Amino acid sequence: MNATMSLENTKHYPVMLNQVLSIISPQHGGTFIDCTFGGGGYSQAILKFPQTKVLAIDRDKFTQKYANILTKKFPKRFNFFQEKFSNLSKVIQKHQKPKAIIFDLGLSSFQISDEERGFSFNSKNFLNMEMGINEHSAYDVINTLDKNHLSTIIKVLGEEKDARLIANKIDKYRRKKPIRTSQELSSIIKDAKKNYNKYKKNPATKTFQAIRIFVNKELTELILGLIEATKLLSNDGMLIVVSFHSLEDKIVKKFFNLYSNLQKNPSRYLPSKESKLSLFKEISKKPQVADIKEIKENIRSRSAKLRYATRDNNSFFYPDEFKKNFINYLEIEGAST
Ligand SMILES: C[S@@+](CC[C@H](N)C(=O)[O-])C[C@H]1O[C@@H](n2cnc3c(N)ncnc32)[C@H](O)[C@@H]1O
Repeated sequence: MNATMSLENTKHYPVMLNQVLSIISPQHGGTFIDCTFGGGGYSQAILKFPQTKVLAIDRDKFTQKYANILTKKFPKRFNFFQEKFSNLSKVIQKHQKPKAIIFDLGLSSFQISDEERGFSFNSKNFLNMEMGINEHSAYDVINTLDKNHLSTIIKVLGEEKDARLIANKIDKYRRKKPIRTSQELSSIIKDAKKNYNKYKKNPATKTFQAIRIFVNKELTELILGLIEATKLLSNDGMLIVVSFHSLEDKIVKKFFNLYSNLQKNPSRYLPSKESKLSLFKEISKKPQVADIKEIKENIRSRSAKLRYATRDNNSFFYPDEFKKNFINYLEIEGAST
């Protein structure tokens, strides 16, 4: 299968597409929910199989133009909603019996390469970083947020050890004049990080990740999105998540482990323990990763981790227990719990 899709001359690589298709088996038909439509790579690949139906969502209004292509081609089998996955049940109902719900987290190549969105270090455009349906932009966060909160965001959401140093530098600059562009912000971070040449990655990488996650409440969205998806799935329905950094993967792993019927065994010589809080009967023990060929074609796939779980018919649900594990992230992002 050709994993590329050419839209407006931009080559688009849906990450780990072949692995996703082999898990969800669209050749046998069914309804699939694509929670992160992006450039439509997954949706389009599923719709190639005639007995399938796809309901797709994306918070980014700019994805509508890609969705329109599929709506025109598959008017009876494709529907798109501009919505966040924390609101999944507003647009999808349980009676639609999804066979699989898929999340491919983070930014699309279209969002990263669009200078006007302000996600890239060198963008001379407005410091925006909004994926869509946001409460504030990166400009608001960088220029108005309390210095200590800014430092916590950079430390926790970016796992940046120089967070305080960077927050102090940002504060010093913004007192003189507002920080307007992504390029200005990355040069301030460079200035704050001593000996940055020794870093292989751009010294602003972790701070940009933190600000982007905060602006879009990405961890809150993931936590609530997993809960919403699990509520919508019935017995044998599958939940598939492709994540791109350790914070996301930690959340997905915890969710599946916490609610699977196989709890960690104290000894491999003892029979598996049945958990009381069973939402999933099977989970992938280790994450799948992209193969060398895909990584060569699309460097972004290097950090992708795919985990999936199959829904049990057990109807118990305890989202609060899961949320409690990540209360720190929810509080930092300002989500009410
Ligand atoms: C990595 S891209 C998905 C690419 C897609 N699988 C494809 O093949 O084209 C992630 C997409 O998810 C969207 N997204 C991220 N967080 C979201 C959320 N909380 N709710 C809805 N969409 C979200 C982004 O706007 C982006 O378009």
